Amino acid sequence: MAEFEKQNKTTFVSAAELAVQGEYIQKVRAVLEARYGENPKAYVHTYGCQGNVADSERIKGMLCQMGYTFAESPENADLVLYNTCAIREHAQDRVFGNVGLLKPMKKEKPNMIIALCGCMMQQKHVAEKIKQSYPFVNLVFGTHAIHRLPELLCGVLCEKKRVFSVEDSAGVIAEGIPSVRDDTQNAWLPIMYGCNNFCTYCVVPYVRGRERSRKPDIIIEEARELAAKGFGQITLLGQNVNSYGKNSGFDMNFSGLLRQLDAIDGDFKIDFMTSHPKDCTTELIDTLASMKKFSGHLHLPVQSGNNRILAAMNRGYTREHYLGLVEYAKKSIPGLDLTTDIIVGFPGENHQEFCDTLSLVREAQFASMFTFIFSPRKGTKAETLPDPVSHAEKAKWFKELTDLQEKITKGEI
Ligand code: SAH
Ligand code: SF4
Ligand code: F3S
Repeated sequence: MAEFEKQNKTTFVSAAELAVQGEYIQKVRAVLEARYGENPKAYVHTYGCQGNVADSERIKGMLCQMGYTFAESPENADLVLYNTCAIREHAQDRVFGNVGLLKPMKKEKPNMIIALCGCMMQQKHVAEKIKQSYPFVNLVFGTHAIHRLPELLCGVLCEKKRVFSVEDSAGVIAEGIPSVRDDTQNAWLPIMYGCNNFCTYCVVPYVRGRERSRKPDIIIEEARELAAKGFGQITLLGQNVNSYGKNSGFDMNFSGLLRQLDAIDGDFKIDFMTSHPKDCTTELIDTLASMKKFSGHLHLPVQSGNNRILAAMNRGYTREHYLGLVEYAKKSIPGLDLTTDIIVGFPGENHQEFCDTLSLVREAQFASMFTFIFSPRKGTKAETLPDPVSHAEKAKWFKELTDLQEKITKGEI
């Protein structure tokens, strides 16, 4: 069992535990050298959100420390690692499909290691399915085990075991892991992990653990390094960045953090996602308006324009509150690039209620939006609700919404 250093409710991985991982890094390095010679290759593919991309960048950082360089396709790799997403059924189906395609490759190259990690693997029924039906997968680990990758990979390589590490956890914070970044213009910078909101449709709180914030001095130092490296944009990441610092034991909220980051020298913009409307304050909007480095982009997912549906989703705000925020933000920040997410066809939503979403979209005049048809997720409250509207009907509503947004984007409405 790892030794944890406790600080209030957030658990930080201790220096001792990270040192243990350092020893595994050296062990794996030696085994890889013996097995593949100088240049073992890894192929890492990421599904899902920017938080997952940031995780993959740290995974690549550790793989690099272990001696891997990176391949452009799975065919040329000695290790194939898929970092998976569980947000909608479709995302999950794609992963299963692509994992299936690795089976013949593994037959050709029996030494190839296949690893699956991320949100999908943190779900018990998925890990079990992989265990039973995908015997060619060597390593499965959830979101809480990322920092233990060296140890887990050592189990596969050194002890030739199939390794599963998918235990439930409230979540920890592991600092000091290097990132290998794909992008040279924008840098992802996680400021917090997990989610406490339990929107009734959403799997994230179940697979990412409780909300926990990284310490401000560590974030500021990382931002300084990124600015010095010449990144033109730093995007701060969290499922609900507006609750940064809550229950953390340090005295800093998101507005305070933004002000500190804004004061860093360098020619870069600051973007962030996701900003939850229930915790979006006028203080935050005033802060954005006063910043020199704010990107001008605010992603404020509304999900629905109907109050009954918003309550059923457990979003914690009303249509009126949301539109009030939009009005204040647009007035305070000229030229604001406002974007949103919307779910069509939440269980029990009727066409009248969906029309409230259309009218909100007309009123808010988003620059663009991400639209999704409701997808039931195992273990969530919405999965159990009666859902009488057919998928074909929801697809029609979906088209109504995207047609409307297209007209708004073209400036026709
Ligand atoms: N933390 C962010 C959202 C992260 S998930 C927030 O609260 O705004 C990204 C988007 O996926 C959500 O905004 C939502 O629109 C969509 N989404 C999440 N779960 C979904 C589900 N079960 N079905 C359809 N869309 C979903
Ligand atoms: Fe999911 Fe809601 Fe958390 Fe966003 S705030 S990740 S939608 S539970
Ligand atoms: Fe998907 Fe996990 Fe992100 S479920 S959207 S990768 S937090």
